[in-house]
Amino acid sequence: MKPLVVKIDPLKIDPEKIKEAVAVIKRGGLVAFPTETVYGLGADALNAEAVAGIFSSKKRPLDDPLIVHISQKEDLGRLALEVPDKARRLIEKFWPGPLTVVLKKTSIVPDIVTTGLDTVAIRMPSNPIALKLIELAGTPVAAPSANLFGKPSPTSAGHVVFDIGSQLDMIIDGGDTDIGIESTVVAFRADEVTVLRPGGVTVEEIEEVIGKVDICPIDVGPDNCPGKYPQHYSPNAKVILIEKEPTQVEEVKIKADDLKKKGYKAGIMCCRENVSFYDGYDTKILGPKGVAKVCASRLFRVFREFDIESYDVIIAEGIEEKGIGLAVMNRIRKASATV
Ligand code: TXA
Ligand code: MG
Repeated sequence: MKPLVVKIDPLKIDPEKIKEAVAVIKRGGLVAFPTETVYGLGADALNAEAVAGIFSSKKRPLDDPLIVHISQKEDLGRLALEVPDKARRLIEKFWPGPLTVVLKKTSIVPDIVTTGLDTVAIRMPSNPIALKLIELAGTPVAAPSANLFGKPSPTSAGHVVFDIGSQLDMIIDGGDTDIGIESTVVAFRADEVTVLRPGGVTVEEIEEVIGKVDICPIDVGPDNCPGKYPQHYSPNAKVILIEKEPTQVEEVKIKADDLKKKGYKAGIMCCRENVSFYDGYDTKILGPKGVAKVCASRLFRVFREFDIESYDVIIAEGIEEKGIGLAVMNRIRKASATV
């Protein structure tokens, strides 16, 4: 079945088109929609049957909980039992935007959404299409990233069509996403604040508001936290991360030569500043070394480009783990993890 792709301009939302998407959500269907981070795969969060469709269409394990999206801060009270002071301050500062808060849930949130946990992840996105869809649906919208489980997240409607298009009732094409990497997931327990997944809001920005926070180590995620699955965000090509300054370029070339000798099609994902050193090698530029924002917006797209060109291996250079660079490196590390 071909999915219905509907183009909507986020700056001039066509009321008829958005109504169609709203109707799909209301009748328990699946709609992919743009957010400022990545495309989401949405269903009525209060309809357990509709939510089950999310898990099956993206082949997501039933023990990986979903984020519930709302269109106004006031709706938080319906979903969360309590909102600690630090959570409230972060919400005031970063909503609407790429911040997800994990809070104790109320009984209206179906167990399938939280995979039986007593907490629920909640976010108010800033993309106008996402906000309008949730507002008019009149219900919170559960939405993971709209990709096949374990694969790079989609940053365009085309990526969604490619991955899971045939499983969906509608895909809203609102253009390429802005940030390109998922939201920052933050958990609150008593006075303790833990960043479970670095993302669009940086740790530095969070600490400016509430002081020092813990960061969940990448390889020892507690149960049911984004660190739980060692490998994630992975293209079909194997990702090998090389961080060997000051001999970075030489090490990358040695690896590329070695792989080529063994018969593999290997490409290099490098920063703009280094590309001229890789003359004669296959390269794709992630972005300028010092501009992590650009690297974030391009990462998943570049992964996908290597896949389209049937590369066996991507040799990735690292970037500085500062600002959103921390989230970029989190994704590259997870993509390169071996299971
Ligand atoms: O930017 C985003 O966050 C995108 C857009 C669509 O909003 N969504 C997204 O959803 O990335 P997803 O499902 O791909 O990632 C959500 C992460 C998962 O790794 C999940 O384990 C974690 O949030 N999560 C959800 N509920 C949780 C909970 N109650 N406790 C701990 N982690 C939770
Ligand atoms: Mg995801």
